Amino acid sequence: MKIKNIGVYGGGVMGSGIVQVFASSGYRVSLVSISDSELEASVKTVTKNLERLVSKEKLDEAGKQETLANIATSTDVSSLKDCDLVIEAVIENKDIKKKVLSSIAAAVGDNCIIASNTSTISQSELAGAIHNPERFIGMHFMNPVPVMSLIEVIAALQTDEQVINDVLEVSAAIGKTAVCVKDYPGFVLNRILIPMINEAVCCLADGLAEAAEIDEIMKLGANHPIGPLALADLVGLDVCMMIMNVLYADFGDSKYRPSPLLRKMVAAGRLGRKSGRGFYDYK
Ligand code: CAA
Repeated sequence: MKIKNIGVYGGGVMGSGIVQVFASSGYRVSLVSISDSELEASVKTVTKNLERLVSKEKLDEAGKQETLANIATSTDVSSLKDCDLVIEAVIENKDIKKKVLSSIAAAVGDNCIIASNTSTISQSELAGAIHNPERFIGMHFMNPVPVMSLIEVIAALQTDEQVINDVLEVSAAIGKTAVCVKDYPGFVLNRILIPMINEAVCCLADGLAEAAEIDEIMKLGANHPIGPLALADLVGLDVCMMIMNVLYADFGDSKYRPSPLLRKMVAAGRLGRKSGRGFYDYK
């Protein structure tokens, strides 16, 4: 199947990034959100990112306009009806995702592939929320989507083989490297990355070093582009805690328990960049 029209449901950080990469690669993209304000904010984010590329002479003005012209927005899920692939990128909440996926499945044609950008929820369980689960698959993009080249592709137990091939093909067409991973808690990326971040929070709580020093150690000693605490601020401390909770619950192994400091920071609303303060101050 040739994928031409893309739908994205959810215009937050991840949804906006996904919209940008597909629109930049020449795909027509329909972005759906429940709120006009999220749609406006999403288009503003994409426009700002494209303007940054123009200012660095990596894109010309015509390219920017072409990319923006590829994006249509709506609060009505039926605007996804002609899509060949719809990617759900709403908040990481099982019940909300299931509701959204079922509304997408009711709006699109039977041949449309429905993907979830979930970072941790079981794909096989999400697939059960739609009437044709063989059309469902996980496409886990990384933040910031325009910069990060990986997509974890996770087939549910129900996913049709051809759907996997189509998704690998479209991932390559947008310049990403897709790696297939089994449906298991945290998949691969978050099963490794988030416990590492959690351990960095434990080092901070144990008073081994200051936040900036812990980050410096991992940047200079392990060649990480940013330190684990700065990365926690980028990902969102609430998201890190939620992923630790899923690993902890699903494996039943105490090695995945979230650091009490991480819990405390989330309870205090220090969620990282998005709230203006996390392990660092962004105000
Ligand atoms: N959108 C688009 N482009 C962005 C961007 C954004 N949000 N943030 C940075 N960039 C671009 C910049 O424009 C810049 O581009 P050029 O090289 O063309 O000039 C480039 O990225 C580097 O940016 P900066 O110089 O401003 O800053 P940096 O060198 O610190 O790089 C970074 C920023 C790419 C984010 C880098 O810090 C990095 O790679 N961090 C690690 C990111 C990471 O690990 N992501 C995975 C998170 S886990 C996840 O997403 C999965 C999950 O489920 C939780």
